[in-house]
Parts: sequence; structure tokens; C-alpha cells
Amino acid sequence: MGNENIVSIAAIIALILGAFVAIPTGAQLIGVCYGMGGNNLPRPRDVVNLYKSKNLKAMRLFEPNLDVFQALKGSNIQLMLGVPNTDLKLLASSSSAANHWVRKYVKAYSSGVSFKYIAVGNKAIPGNQARYVLPAMRNIYSALSSAGLQNQIKVSTAVATGREILKQYSPPSSGRFSSAAATHLRAIIRFLVNNGAPLFINVYPYRSYVGDPNHIGPNYPFFNSSRTVIQDGQYSYQNLFDAIVDAVYIASEKLGEPNLTVVVSESGWPSAGGFGATKEHARIYNQNLINHVGQGTPRRLWKSLETYIFEMFNENQKLHGAEQNFGMFYPNMQPVYPINFN
Ligand SMILES: *[C@@H]1O[C@H](CO)[C@@H](O)[C@H](O)[C@H]1NC(C)=O
Ligand SMILES: *[C@@H]1O[C@H](CO)[C@@H](O)[C@H](O)[C@H]1NC(C)=O
Repeated sequence: MGNENIVSIAAIIALILGAFVAIPTGAQLIGVCYGMGGNNLPRPRDVVNLYKSKNLKAMRLFEPNLDVFQALKGSNIQLMLGVPNTDLKLLASSSSAANHWVRKYVKAYSSGVSFKYIAVGNKAIPGNQARYVLPAMRNIYSALSSAGLQNQIKVSTAVATGREILKQYSPPSSGRFSSAAATHLRAIIRFLVNNGAPLFINVYPYRSYVGDPNHIGPNYPFFNSSRTVIQDGQYSYQNLFDAIVDAVYIASEKLGEPNLTVVVSESGWPSAGGFGATKEHARIYNQNLINHVGQGTPRRLWKSLETYIFEMFNENQKLHGAEQNFGMFYPNMQPVYPINFN
């Protein structure tokens, strides 16, 4: 064997090893949404300690909260921070309001808090706030640039994946956005791709399951089917989560944007209060989700999918029923069911 062969074999081995080393472990990929819709929730300091004790390294917060920022200082927990929909109009129309927002909530804490993303609006597309999303994203982006933070903090928006956005998802190759959503998403996705930022998508196999339980069956939504459920050309789907995520990639391709990346900004399963909502279902869904996302999806194999589980605590001020019961912990910080985040 010549030297050059040995060198190239060594290079291949290094590449293979590199590929494995580059796959992050579950703990770095998994974040948890910290919703505030409860009047009995623990103090932010205790919540941050709970994240740390569970080895959770990422948090999604739906709106700024100075007590939480204070508690996060020095924790190294990476934060996805939301801009509430009620602020979109102002931030879209006023760059000085955007500068103020970034100075007050981000810059003032950025030496101690690991801001990673700003989610400008949640489920604002389609709808009467939708036209404010991109201009608000642009103003927040400029404000971050002025503060010298545009490279470390990515600006995006969170969208749902129900029928009003993702008109079709099965098979994933049929994926396409509704025209009401596409009107806004076309320019937003261009902006994201240009800035190397992901689109945030909320993915709920639970909703599909509730809508059509007999057709979807007991395994496909829970990541525990042992065989292919949907064959889509060369791609085999064993779980509904992957099908929804890949349908988003396809829908984006159909808008002329093959380079979109996504982060799953919400996914979860309720443990009570509705059809299919049991502790066992919620435990299996969330545990299998945690175990799965490092593998990517059939169309983006081994492209680890950063995912925020919805959510940390049950929230007693939300709509009665399943909406109150997505928490993995009770407000007293006891687990609703056992779960392993590692
Ligand atoms: C997508 O990325 C490829 C590879 O970097 C590039 O050649 C192509 O122009 C990009 N397409 C768009 C629409 O941005
Ligand atoms: C998959 O999980 C669901 C929810 O707990 C359960 O109903 C179903 O029987 C499981 N299937 C297998 C093959 O374990």
C-alpha cells in the first residue's frame, strides 16, 4: 500500500470519527418551554435550578421576564426569547422601539444570560398580525446589529404546522404551505436563509392523532412503530413527527427555498384533560422524542434537530382541558411521569 493510500485512509477515518464527534448528544439538543400561565408556579430561581438538575441546557421563554433573566445569569442555559404578538405592530413600525426592546431585554443581560434566539411572534402567521412579523424581525435584527450581537443571536419567528399553515403533510412530498401562510413565509424564509437562521416550527403529532385516531393508529405518533407506515418514494416514515418536519422542508422547497433549516420550537403531549391524554402517552411521546431528534428526519438524515419540549409545568390559567396539562412537572416541581433528559 502506497503512502498516499495510507494518508487517504487516515483522512477517511478522521472524517468518519469527525462525523461522530460532531453529532451532539441529546442533552444539548433538547430544550424545554417555560410557560408562565399559572398562578402557582415556582420561583424562577427554583425553576433554573430544576433545569440544571435535569441537565437541561436550553429554555424557551415566550416573553421577556426580568426575574427569569436574573435567575439565568451565569447558568449557561441557552435561551430562546419570544417577542409577544402584541408587540409586533409597534416593533414593525418603529426602529427606535426595537432598539429600546433589545437594549432593555437583551443587551442589559447579555453578559450573564446566553441568548441564542429571538422568536419574533408565535403563531402570528397567518392572521391579522402576520404582516408585522417580517418588518419586526428586520428591526430587531438591526437593533441586535447595533448592539454587536447579530452573530451570536439569531432572529426568527415561530409558526404552527396545522392545516392553516401546512396545507398537506402526508405523504411529506405533498407538503405545501397554505396560500395565506406562503404570502408571508416566502419573504421570511428568504430573510432567514440569508442570515443563516432557522425557522421555528411547533410540531404536534398529538393534534393530528386527536383529529383522526383510527387512521393514524397507536404507534405512528409515538415513535414506536417497528415498520414503515408511510413510504414516500425512497423515504420511509415510521413516525408522524418526522413526516410533519419533512413536509415543512418540502413546502419550503416549493417556494424556491431548499436551504431552509428548522428548529422545533414546541412539541409535546398532554398527560390529562383530553382525548388520548394520559401520563403514559405523554411519557412515551416525550421520551421517544428526546431519544429520536439526534437522528434527524428521513430527508435530513443525521442532521440533529434542536427541539424544545412543550413544556416544563402544567399551567392552571390556560384553557381548561388538555391545554393545562402539557407539563412534565407539577408546579411543586415533582415529575408528572419519569423522564430522562440525558
Ligand atoms: C442553496 O445552497 C446551495 C449550496 O450552498 C447554493 O448553491 C444555492 O444557491 C442555494 N439556493 C438558494 C435558493 O439560496
Ligand atoms: C406505542 O405507544 C402507545 C402509547 O403508549 C401504545 O398505545 C402502543 O401500544 C405502543 N406500541 C408498541 C408497539 O409498543
